Amino acid sequence: MASGTSRDVVGRGLQVLGRAIREQPRIFAVAVTGSVLFGLMVIASAYVVGAVVGKVVVPAVARGSVTDGALALAAAALFGISVLRVVGIFGRRLGAGYMQYRLQAAYRRRVTRRYLDLPLAWHHRNATGTLLSNANSDVEAAWYPIAPLPFAVGTLVMLVGAVVSLFLTDWALALVGLAVFPALFALNVVYSRRMAPRQARAQRLRAEVSSIAHESFDGALVVKTMGREAQETARFAARAGDLRDALISVGKLRGVFDPMLETLPSLGTLAVLVVGAIRLRQGAITVTELVSVAFLFTVLAFPVRAIGWVLAELPRSVAGWDRVRRVLDATGEMPYGDVTLDPATPTPAALAFHDVHFGYEPAEAHLPGAEVLGEVTFTVPAGKTVALVGPTGAGKSTIASLAVRLVDPRTGTITLDGVDVRELTAASLASTVALVAQVPFVFDDTVRANITLDRPGIGDEEVWAALRLAEADGFVAALPEGLDTMVGERGTSLSGGQRQRLTLARALAGRPRLLVLDDATSAVDPRVEAAILAGLRAPADGGAPASILVVAYRRATIALADEVIYVEHGRVVARGTHTDLLATVPGYADLVTAYEQAEQEREQTRTYDEVTPLTSGLEVEVDR
Ligand SMILES: Nc1ncnc2c1ncn2[C@@H]1O[C@H](COP(=O)(O)OP(=O)(O)O)[C@@H](O)[C@H]1O
Ligand SMILES: [Mg+2]
Repeated sequence: MASGTSRDVVGRGLQVLGRAIREQPRIFAVAVTGSVLFGLMVIASAYVVGAVVGKVVVPAVARGSVTDGALALAAAALFGISVLRVVGIFGRRLGAGYMQYRLQAAYRRRVTRRYLDLPLAWHHRNATGTLLSNANSDVEAAWYPIAPLPFAVGTLVMLVGAVVSLFLTDWALALVGLAVFPALFALNVVYSRRMAPRQARAQRLRAEVSSIAHESFDGALVVKTMGREAQETARFAARAGDLRDALISVGKLRGVFDPMLETLPSLGTLAVLVVGAIRLRQGAITVTELVSVAFLFTVLAFPVRAIGWVLAELPRSVAGWDRVRRVLDATGEMPYGDVTLDPATPTPAALAFHDVHFGYEPAEAHLPGAEVLGEVTFTVPAGKTVALVGPTGAGKSTIASLAVRLVDPRTGTITLDGVDVRELTAASLASTVALVAQVPFVFDDTVRANITLDRPGIGDEEVWAALRLAEADGFVAALPEGLDTMVGERGTSLSGGQRQRLTLARALAGRPRLLVLDDATSAVDPRVEAAILAGLRAPADGGAPASILVVAYRRATIALADEVIYVEHGRVVARGTHTDLLATVPGYADLVTAYEQAEQEREQTRTYDEVTPLTSGLEVEVDR
């Protein structure tokens, strides 16, 4: 993180503020106008109080009686000034609040929008907890100084006004002002420079704490089953402790500087009284003027603090802004082309990989990323079903991601109906292909909303048709409120297999012309899985026919495929029918047999589709 030296933190912080002003110029003008009005009224009040003392109180004391007219005039003046001050405060507060919260909302929107635009590769490199804190506390931190900013700007105007009016009154008193005001300003600057590294550290630790918390909740299943609760708690406690220490060190610094900032104007008042008494004896000033100036120093003390508030928040603002900008400036989104491939009647699409090489971007940009796929060439002819089989880590999910263009190959091409997928528009790509990932994601919403995802042209009839194809119509019909049943985190718990079938129905409802199933029915009963695939290959009731690329393990499922592609270590090792490969490729036969044995053991210990409360609602991320 580039927070740099404390010197340039102030400069960079002012740049961030400049950006805020450029984005909300009108509301800022309202707030500053209110604040300047307030500042001028503070000066005016000092002079009116001076006049009341000099022209009303002192003569009254001397004479022993008060002149009603003068008193009424003074009261009216003070009342008028108070009203204008109230108007000023109102304008400033309202303007500052509007500005701060509008900026927060605008940047929250921009950050989250950016998350959705950034490619999967970027998401792989960034922890979910960090993304959450970018959109929350970092956006907030970036705009914290906006709240006191108009006050501080008004105060600067007020200080200039105060110095001018001091010079108009008496040069000796003006010199006291010239000593005290810059000293106050300097003290504020030193304060914020000391504060800079502490605030930056606290902000970084905030993100780390939220990231650890997110990880533990996300991995609650692993943590619990592995009995790692104590270690996870300790890991969290350590970071929370660091954050506490960082915040305490912020507090200590405040404790040292705040009293100094309070004291300085009081010392100024004292100096004014000493110097003023001498000047009064010399006949250079009147009692009115001395009281006005002494009172001015007293009432200035509070607004001057506003400058300190802004400066003190700048480091945090810069730290937050750096983290927000990292998201906004992140590059790597995949440009889409302008070719569309949407035939009038849905027909299956043909997929082809030509000599595709791929490697994930390494976490450190300067390191070369290892090659995960090499020389991958195969086709899924229109209307055919191709099974992708291979051991864990062979690259099946990577091929699936490439086929739906979640990632782009390093070299080689992937085509749909002969068109390079990079030339397609985002909309055309989305309507042509659908990926169903291994880990199903269910939104905290109704069954219907989970399937339609607000896409146009998907009515209840289409929803039920998709549910039938996914063999999910039975259990959805049995839900308490059918399609209106809330599912997901706060709704009805679904079993793993039910969730998988719901996400499959979601993909089917969009009538994709190529369906990519990445082990998408692994939690479904094997017989149901085979029935689903058979149904997809030859849809009975109005379902659109699609080409299918399916990552599968089960013999019954694989046997339904027209062709099997066997991959190992990112290479296509063999291809042919299931029977051919069983006979000719030893690795293939071993894998299928081993999986079958594992499944038999699994079936003895648990039944498919049982509800496992611990897992439901926890799979909040797509399979990485
Ligand atoms: N997001 C990622 N970042 C870096 N490497 C990855 C990522 N996802 C997968 N890999 C690596 O790519 C290889 C292929 O993974 P994958 O396609 O998931 O295999 P499969 O689906 O066949 O189990 C593995 O070596 C895996 O470690
Ligand atoms: Mg996989």
